[in-house]
Formats: sequence, structure tokens, C-alpha cells
Amino acid sequence: MRVLSVASECAPLIKTGGLADVVGALPHALAAEGIEMRVLLPGYPAVLNRVADTKEAMSFDHLYGGPARLLRAEADGLSLYVLEAAHLYDRGGTIYLDEEGRDWPDNPERFAALCRAGAEICRGTVGWTPQVAHGHDWQAGLLPYFLRKDGTPVASVETIHNIAFAGRFEPSRIESLGLDPTDNHVDGYEFWGTGSTLKAALVWADRITTVSPRYARELTTPAFGMGFEGLIWSRRGDLAGILNGIDTDAWNPGKDPAIRQFKTARGKTAATAALRAELGLPDADGPLAVVISRLTHQKGLDLLLDVLPEYLESGGQLALLGSGDRDLERAWGDAADRHDGLSVHIGYDEALSHRMMAGGEAVLVPSRFEPCGLTQLYGLRYGAIPVVARVGGLADTVIDANDAAIRTKAATGIVHAADSAEALSLALTRMLELRASPGTWSQMVKTAMRHPVGWDVSAGAYAELYRDLVTN
Ligand code: ADP
Ligand code: GLC
Repeated sequence: MRVLSVASECAPLIKTGGLADVVGALPHALAAEGIEMRVLLPGYPAVLNRVADTKEAMSFDHLYGGPARLLRAEADGLSLYVLEAAHLYDRGGTIYLDEEGRDWPDNPERFAALCRAGAEICRGTVGWTPQVAHGHDWQAGLLPYFLRKDGTPVASVETIHNIAFAGRFEPSRIESLGLDPTDNHVDGYEFWGTGSTLKAALVWADRITTVSPRYARELTTPAFGMGFEGLIWSRRGDLAGILNGIDTDAWNPGKDPAIRQFKTARGKTAATAALRAELGLPDADGPLAVVISRLTHQKGLDLLLDVLPEYLESGGQLALLGSGDRDLERAWGDAADRHDGLSVHIGYDEALSHRMMAGGEAVLVPSRFEPCGLTQLYGLRYGAIPVVARVGGLADTVIDANDAAIRTKAATGIVHAADSAEALSLALTRMLELRASPGTWSQMVKTAMRHPVGWDVSAGAYAELYRDLVTN
């Protein structure tokens, strides 16, 4: 079976968050299911620099304001189409933001172009025609819409990785985006007075998926649906929550070239000592916890700042690696100046993130909402006990250390109520207590490291979804 995946990021070529990890992992995971997945990506400089031996698959004289070429390429074991369009993608800043941290004003057009190119591939223009077109988040939102409008008989799937990003656009841009103005209504792409590319996907895609079963349920509620809950509820028959996996080769504590390797819970001790030494943290009896995260409201790290002094005074230590909102970066930097037991690294550093998972004894993920979350999965695999909020994929992947779970040796972490500094503080206290009980703690680490976090089960679920779509 042939599937075209359309996304704005794909690891290891270009990444700002977990979306890239998932888009980069799916083709490998699905190959084992007999599925040939090719990925269509924007031709950002970072992507074009990494692909070799490209061949032109088709060209556009004029695609949203300039000429463009669709290139066929291979890179890092991935089979790709790359949309080269200098007027849309050849610029500084980040892939979504300008140098001042504002959305690029033409983001709707930049990603509409990607969807147009995807729709052309589906029409059979390049000689490889997929049976399913699978789009990710708002950037791929117009793909199902274009397929339907073109009358192209290719089934479509939209995966919601994060509903906080709706891909909004002003109604004045409807025509420049190539949309039919008669679809600008509540049953079309209109969303509370503006347009939304995500809404278009949720209306026109044949199936909708999201990245954990619990987030699928949460999305149908006002607390998490961010205005889409009614629509998602009405499409609940077409909605599936399929849990993300992680790349268990890249994240394997027994083989990871970035760390002091270890295969068992006991082997972690050396990695923890190495991390303390690297970060300049003093030796201590208490646990060393880590956070690796985008610094945004979603991640709840402002709550962690509130309860931090108490945690550090109780003997805990913390190392944070992250970047994002300027205010949060500043607040965490200031906190590091005030506390000895806290190490803060503002920036993005893949190798350091591996060393932190290896050395960290706990990984904290106090998110307000979390569609799936990947760092708690890395934590499980590396024996860094996850302390997570009871939302989305966090709740689906971590087994709380309540009495019954401890007794049956099932516990893998600590789960607390979301969006509450008090609940987070209690969870950290529980973590300190469990860590002070060596037998219980090392059993949790053992159970965590054995917890399945790969793609096997979920690859099967995607394969079944595609087959179902193609045969029905
Ligand atoms: P989200 O996609 O919402 O950011 P996830 O937990 O799904 O959250 O994925 C985040 C991914 O980005 C993980 O692979 C994590 O290790 C990585 N990551 C986040 N911040 C950093 C950072 N500052 N340095 C290195 N890796 C990071
Ligand atoms: C999003 C979510 C995160 C999820 C990732 C990959 O960025 O915030 O929870 O793990 O996408 O699906």
C-alpha cells in the first residue's frame, strides 16, 4: 500500500517538537506492515542542504506568488518529496516565526502551497500515486479539502498533534489561498469568524486521528477542544486515538552513543554522577530530576517554578533544558542564579537531552494538556521515573505508584492533577518519599525500563486504519 504523509517537520531533517519525531518515525514503523510511506516536506534551507541526488518530479510556474519545483529525494532512510519554493521557504527566523518571534504573515500561503503540491501528487502527476494521503496538524489542513474539490479519489487522514494551533486566516485571503468562498460557513472552513485550515481538515478528511486515546476523548470536551469540540464530537465515529511510540534504536540506553551506556537500573548511577559533574551540580542524597521541553504555557513549567524552592529545600535537584517564550526563559534563568540545586540550559541540544535522560532519576512533565508527549516515554526507557500531569498521553502511558500498583510491581511513575501547583508539589513530595525507599524505587525503575514504548502496536493500528479506508 502507498501512503503520502504531508507535514511541516520531519526528524532528523527539521524539528521543532514531537511532531517531527512522529513524522520521521512513521515510515520506518509502517514499512514492517507492508506500507510504502513517502513524506512531502517544505524545502526549507535545512532540508535542501540535507538531501542529495534530487530529481525534479514536477514544476509550477506560479505557486502562491512564485515558481516552485517538486523534488524527489532520499535522506536518512526516508523517501521524500521536497517542495522547493524560495519565495515561501528560503528565509531566516524559524520555520514558523520571523526574527522577532512573530508568525510569518504568509504562513497560510506557505502551507497551502504544501497542500497543493500534495494534491498534485495524489492526482497522479508524478507517476507515484498514493492510495491514502495522511496530513499532520494545521499545516496539512487544506490537503483533504483540495482532494475533495479536485475530485481526486484518494482517501485522506488528518492527525491532530496539537489542537492549540488552528491555522487561522483572515477571510480576505480566501481567494489568494485558492479556496471556494462558498465554503466559508460553519459547516465549512469558517471558525469563529476567521478561516481555519485545521477546521478544513476536520470537516473534509475521511478519518481523524490523534496521538493518544485519552486526548481523543478530551478533544470532544470544551476544556480541551479549543472551540473544535462540537465538530470533533460530531465526527467521533471517524476519530481514533493512536498512541505515539518512540524510536527505540535512537533511544536505547544500552547503545546510545551520546551517553555512558547502561542496560539495567543499577547502571544508571554512573550516568547520574556524570550528569551532575557535567552540569556543575553538587553531590547530593536526593534525586536529580530533569525537564526537557518547549517553554510554553501548555507545558506548565510556570507551576513548577512556583513549587521549586520547596522541592529544592527538601533535598531534590533539577536540571532543565528548554527554549521558547522569552518570559519563561528569563524566569528560569533567574531561578538558576538563586538556587544551587538547579541547572538551567536555555537552548536546543539533542545530545544533551540524551545525557539528561540517562542521568536524570525522574523526568517532570507537568503539562496543562498533552496530546501524547514523548519525554515521559524516553524517561521510561532510560529509567528516569516520569512525574506527569493526568492529561492526554501522559495519563495513558504512566502507571501511578499508588499502593496497589506498588504492591503488584506495576508502578512506573507518579501521576498528579493538572494545572495545580498544589498537586504538583504533592507529587514531588511523593517522589522524594519513594526515592528514599530504595527497594520500591529500584523496582519502579526496573518496571519502567521494561515498559513497551516502541511503535509495534501503533504501527499496526495505522495500517489497519489505512486498509479499512482503502477497502471500504
Ligand atoms: P511537543 O511536541 O509538544 O514539544 P513532545 O514531548 O511530544 O512535546 O516532543 C518534544 C520533543 O522535542 C522531544 O523529542 C524532546 O526531547 C524534544 N525537545 C524539546 N525541547 C528540547 C530541547 N530544548 N533540546 C532538545 N530536545 C528538545
Ligand atoms: C505535539 C504535542 C505532543 C505530541 C507531539 C507528537 O507537539 O504537543 O504531546 O507528543 O505533537 O505527536
